Amino acid sequence: MHLRTLSLALAVGAAAFPQLKDPKPHKNVARANDTATDRLVFCHFMIGISSNRQSAADYDDDMRRAKDLGIDAFALNIGVDPFTDTQLNYAYESAAQNDMKVFISFDFNWYHTDQAAAVGSKIAQYANEPAQLIVDDKIFVSSFAGDGIDVEQIESSAGTDIFWAPNYHPGMGDFNDVDSALNWMAWDNDGNNKAPKPGANVTVADGDQAYIDALGDKPYLAPASGWFFTHFGGEVSYSKNWVFPGDLLWYNRWREILELGPRFVEIVTWNDYGESHYIGPLSSPHTDDGASKWVMDMPHGGWLEMSRPFIAAYKAGDTSPDQYIGDERLIYWYRPTPRDVECDSTDTTMGGNPDNSTGNFFRGRPNGWETLQDEVFVVSLLNSPATIEVTSGDVEESFEASTGASAFAVGMGVGRQTFSLVRDGETVMSETSLKDIVDECICGLYNFNAYVGVVPAESTIDQLDATGLAMLSQGLNAPCPTNTLGAGAPSATA
Ligand SMILES: *[C@@H]1O[C@H](CO)[C@@H](O)[C@H](O)[C@H]1NC(C)=O
Ligand SMILES: *[C@@H]1O[C@H](CO)[C@@H](O)[C@H](O)[C@H]1NC(C)=O
Ligand SMILES: *[C@@H]1O[C@H](CO)[C@@H](O)[C@H](O)[C@H]1NC(C)=O
Repeated sequence: MHLRTLSLALAVGAAAFPQLKDPKPHKNVARANDTATDRLVFCHFMIGISSNRQSAADYDDDMRRAKDLGIDAFALNIGVDPFTDTQLNYAYESAAQNDMKVFISFDFNWYHTDQAAAVGSKIAQYANEPAQLIVDDKIFVSSFAGDGIDVEQIESSAGTDIFWAPNYHPGMGDFNDVDSALNWMAWDNDGNNKAPKPGANVTVADGDQAYIDALGDKPYLAPASGWFFTHFGGEVSYSKNWVFPGDLLWYNRWREILELGPRFVEIVTWNDYGESHYIGPLSSPHTDDGASKWVMDMPHGGWLEMSRPFIAAYKAGDTSPDQYIGDERLIYWYRPTPRDVECDSTDTTMGGNPDNSTGNFFRGRPNGWETLQDEVFVVSLLNSPATIEVTSGDVEESFEASTGASAFAVGMGVGRQTFSLVRDGETVMSETSLKDIVDECICGLYNFNAYVGVVPAESTIDQLDATGLAMLSQGLNAPCPTNTLGAGAPSATA
């Protein structure tokens, strides 16, 4: 792969490296032409929870929403499930019908690195589909993990040139073998897949630097994510319970991406509900792996809206989203309970003796909970300056927000959450969130997922369907009212 790339470069010069033709623009030079970069935005999509989809049409809504947001391609994460090909075929067909692109992301939790031939033949199966993403005239392929796989074998089995952008790890995989590499670690961490601790703090920017160093001149596939919370107890065999620092991450990371200007960005994720980093709708058809306990009534669609001007700016080569704000909006989010609420007597992680061979299982509050602040976060997307007023329970604060995108944090107050945009003393728009902050254990759980809302509010309430709720009650030790948003005063259902 390395040799082939080199000889290509010798043969056709700069054409093999289009990024050289289009250097990162100088900070102060505004870009008028938003088609002027070769940057691409991807979004990680879990095929493994989509087994219930019956036709390509079941993918249409996801394809249209993602395309409308500015996402160029879904990274279709696959394992080795019996339904994988059925669902991949639907996804490729729907993408073609909706003018979207897709590519396969092989998940090496399920594939093994001695399966290069199987990986290659899977690539060959879809390589000629019209919706396949092609980059630099090659079939784009990615992965989760996979360090050490034989890339020459993949290509010979695929029977075609591939643009290999795996999630190798600096110091593990051979970066001579890649065309690009995906960094998965979109969250500050301790270097050991958990939240940072005193003396062990590997920031997302540290990860960027490690990948950029390992890649040299090759393009970097940078991650962007807003949250991470997983809370599986003994009710399933894959018990795991931790958070990474979230809070204003979704906003701060997009700022970082604009400064960094990598050739590719991957949003982590569209629909991984189990780890709470979805930006896609709750209503996007999927099966329930037990995550509905902390996903029900927790839409993230506002994060999709927040990223819109950042994606536009990124693609234009701009370092500021300010010129790409369309309709004015406030995006807000918060955890539904203060972090010290005590749920030990009912939480699902307290009982039994779950397997902890992964080292990912903890009892009670998710490991890393101390890294999250009891705050309510607001991002304003404005076309002219305004005052932002936030009422969080008994806490009232206001901020002067300038034109463009700005972020604010307010101390979390138990009770109703109201967000208003005021100009010249007049309320331009205002919403009270459909979700109160409560000092009790919702469904008996430590729920450290985020509730995300928008002003003005969406016209429909995004909810899990019956299939998405199938495992809601499994393992629960407390009543759990279902789909309560907009069903009356939330505090009245307790
Ligand atoms: C923007 O750039 C594209 C690609 O270089 C070019 O085809 C198009 O004409 C440009 N548009 C404007 C408005 O300059
Ligand atoms: C990790 O370091 C970053 C950058 O200095 C800092 O913003 C963050 O608060 C640190 N996290 C922890 C848990 O110490
Ligand atoms: C699970 O393993 C991790 C890593 O060894 C450990 O820190 C954690 O305390 C264990 N969980 C439980 C419930 O013992």
